[in-house]
Amino acid sequence: MVEAVSLTPIGRERFRPSIHYTAEQNWLNDPNGLLYYKGLYHLFYQYNPRGNVWGNMSWGHASSPDLVNWTERPVAIEGDVNEEIFSGSIVVDAGNTSGFGRAGTVPLVAVYTSAFTEQSAFPGVQAQSLAYSLDEGATWAKYEGNPVLNRHSRDFRDPKVFRYEGLSERYWVMVAVEAEDRTVVLYRSDDLREWSFLSSFGPANATGGVWECPDLFPLAVDGDPDRLKWVLIVNLNPGGIAGGSGGQYFVGNFDGTTFTSESTIPKDSEGSGGGQEECNWLDWGRDYYAAVSFSGVPGDKPIMIAWMNNWDYGNDIPTHPWKSAMSLPREVSLITVRGVPRLLQRAIAVVPDPDEVTLAIDHKTVDEGAESLPEECWGSVLHIEAALTPGTAREIGLIVRGGRGEGTFIGYDVETGSVFVDRRHSGDVDFHPDFASKERAPADLTGGKIRLRIYVDHSSVEVFAQDGLVTITDQIFPEPSSREIAIYATHGSGAIDSLRIYNLERTTTPPTAAQNGPHA
Ligand code: FRU
Repeated sequence: MVEAVSLTPIGRERFRPSIHYTAEQNWLNDPNGLLYYKGLYHLFYQYNPRGNVWGNMSWGHASSPDLVNWTERPVAIEGDVNEEIFSGSIVVDAGNTSGFGRAGTVPLVAVYTSAFTEQSAFPGVQAQSLAYSLDEGATWAKYEGNPVLNRHSRDFRDPKVFRYEGLSERYWVMVAVEAEDRTVVLYRSDDLREWSFLSSFGPANATGGVWECPDLFPLAVDGDPDRLKWVLIVNLNPGGIAGGSGGQYFVGNFDGTTFTSESTIPKDSEGSGGGQEECNWLDWGRDYYAAVSFSGVPGDKPIMIAWMNNWDYGNDIPTHPWKSAMSLPREVSLITVRGVPRLLQRAIAVVPDPDEVTLAIDHKTVDEGAESLPEECWGSVLHIEAALTPGTAREIGLIVRGGRGEGTFIGYDVETGSVFVDRRHSGDVDFHPDFASKERAPADLTGGKIRLRIYVDHSSVEVFAQDGLVTITDQIFPEPSSREIAIYATHGSGAIDSLRIYNLERTTTPPTAAQNGPHA
């Protein structure tokens, strides 16, 4: 629980999400140390304990039994005069390979980046360090032998560590980045303290910004355990498909030493890569960054969470006394699309109760123009499932968070063959010159239809199109009174094949300062 909570005037809390995690107060960025352990999901994150903009980097902490109801807990690992605590991961050291365990207690070991300050013993260096917890993540002690892996680099960061189970050997593997070099570096260790170099990967595909927050995990293609592939996640900033921060993934193999990509776009004779559109993007919106997966989750599908913000304007979004939310948790799988394995994403956790459906429409013509839907289904926290046929229309879609001259457009554009989120008139867009934007993701119609699953919250929309083959995540800052929903078509008429709207406001409790943490 947070120790001190200021009572904030509710008006200033108006953008506080209901179904996305925010810290009670202050700035947060990347999810760190995502871990499922003994029945609890742990979300650590880049956190400024003393301000509402980036700085004083430490690891904040929240935990949840269900990925929906989060309890904020005391700051886990704090920065000091020598180091800021940058991103990293946590492993359960069940075999006590690190020796941090005492009297049979299994240590949780955090591997984080020490961003050493100029007055430290390693001025300006970024190196990897350890902290451990002997009380299931509640309190943490830094290892006195830090840093454990130092390349004397200013941009070596964001270690993700996992247990590699080879045919004859088991060891820890660290995936980190040399950010400026657009390179992922891999190391191995038996005890988490001593690391030896394995290999590197990159630059490849999208290289328009520094590479950050990598992840590497196996997945069965089409659920077939005999067709295992490895997915390498590489976040980059700037250079994302929608501008600024974004994430890409590579699919290939990992033999315990080297990751070999099967999704690298060949360079042409001039040495430049293929089009940006051809890269595998984790999300096509502006606000899905630093995505990484949980360790220790039972089952074979990784769950990922991202920071729902963008370094282009992250410090300037109009929220107070908190800044930035996490995305909804997403379960990911690999499916074959036109002969190639692609990531499929599904928001889990927030599952609507069929009894909460506020609007159900099947087979209805959508004439050119916009038609407001019945007021009972309007709202600020919504789950929407739609199957739409563009028909003769050029564009068909929904307007959410509509009101007094504003609205967020989510739809399908037949001419470009893409799903889009247009937030140019979504509300407050003037706080930063780069914020107003329209995002597109290429999507083929199936049977002439576009299927959309949309999560609307007080200050965001997350769109999963064609069952999660492409996603668009965008923040929006509308008036609280903008709750209208409309359906529209341009240049012709289309149809609603089916539409279901669930109002999640009724099933979730709005946060209050007194509630002290869980925002769902
Ligand atoms: C990504 C990032 C990481 C770094 C952290 C610092 O958003 O820049 O590379 O560890 O944020 O807060």
